[in-house]
Amino acid sequence: MKPVIVSGLKPSGELHIGNYLGMLKQAVELQNSNKYRCFYFIADYHALTQRYNPKEKAEEIYKMAVDAFSAGIDPKKSVIFVQSHVSEHANLAWIFNTITPVGKLQGMIEYKEKLSEGQIPNAGLLDYPVLMAADILLYKAEFVPVGEDQRQHVELTREVVRTFNDRFGKTFKEPKAVHTKAPRIMSLDNPTKKMSKSMPAGCLYLSDSPEVIREKVKRAVTDSLTGIDYDPEKRPAVSNLVLVYSEFSGVPIPEVVKKFHGVGYAKFKEELAEVITKTLKPFQEKRKKLLKDKRLVMSTLEAGTKKAKPIAQKTMKEVAKKVGLI
Ligand code: TYM
Repeated sequence: MKPVIVSGLKPSGELHIGNYLGMLKQAVELQNSNKYRCFYFIADYHALTQRYNPKEKAEEIYKMAVDAFSAGIDPKKSVIFVQSHVSEHANLAWIFNTITPVGKLQGMIEYKEKLSEGQIPNAGLLDYPVLMAADILLYKAEFVPVGEDQRQHVELTREVVRTFNDRFGKTFKEPKAVHTKAPRIMSLDNPTKKMSKSMPAGCLYLSDSPEVIREKVKRAVTDSLTGIDYDPEKRPAVSNLVLVYSEFSGVPIPEVVKKFHGVGYAKFKEELAEVITKTLKPFQEKRKKLLKDKRLVMSTLEAGTKKAKPIAQKTMKEVAKKVGLI
């Protein structure tokens, strides 16, 4: 049996280049390697932990699926579905809740960040990583392609595995987070913060038009030093842009630095905008077409649910028996 890969995308706003370079690009590569059984889902239950407009949520969920398909997630090669359509995700999360200390969840970096951004904590927000553990372990995943910000959540999943196996007998294996070379793309307007859907001003979206990309890249903060260089400690803003250039062009970082030696920010930014625009073109064309075919998207997701559900049910049955439910 091929090892299992699981990852999710939270439908709370549109995908940005951080999501793409930190997760989606790799998710597609892993899928295309043919070495894994991949399960990718739209994490709609997770999206409900942040304040939202219920009138817009359904559209956001649908668009996130469109974006995943447009970026190359292929339903012929991967199982793709909506989290809430497989109710076992919530059922398993409940069982894991009973073995997860609240103090542990209160100390999670993402949770504390959300509070510092002014979010009023609901129990779901606190419980977010436990639902992630359920997402991952329902399919007994070995690898979880995610950005750096999710590393601690996968670490918690590993703790859940150890606690569960200790109390109820060996059931799960500890999954590993797998990261890309760009696991933390920083915000364009603040290089000390990661690019995040909750701070749209610093985001470059996959659906941005060439004009918007040019404008956003032009406005991206740099520093008072001259020259293009890669030194994330001393020059975080410029290094972030160099990394983005490297990832979009496929040119290794040292060569990017060499290529732009002695070139001013304005010219570098022009070329950066161009390489991003060019790479995103096929994504945007596919997206435009798919957005017109809601029926196809919904039926593809439904077919994914049909494949995911029996596996989830099997794990849930095994867990129910182990923990003593009848
Ligand atoms: P979401 O939708 O917020 O993010 C999707 C993926 O993008 C990564 N990411 C980044 N990578 C690099 N630089 C950035 N600035 C950046 N911002 C986001 C995230 O790390 C993520 O991999 N909690 C998950 C969704 C989820 C999930 C799961 C993932 C729910 N259950 C189970 C894996 C396994 C999330 O934050 O998605």
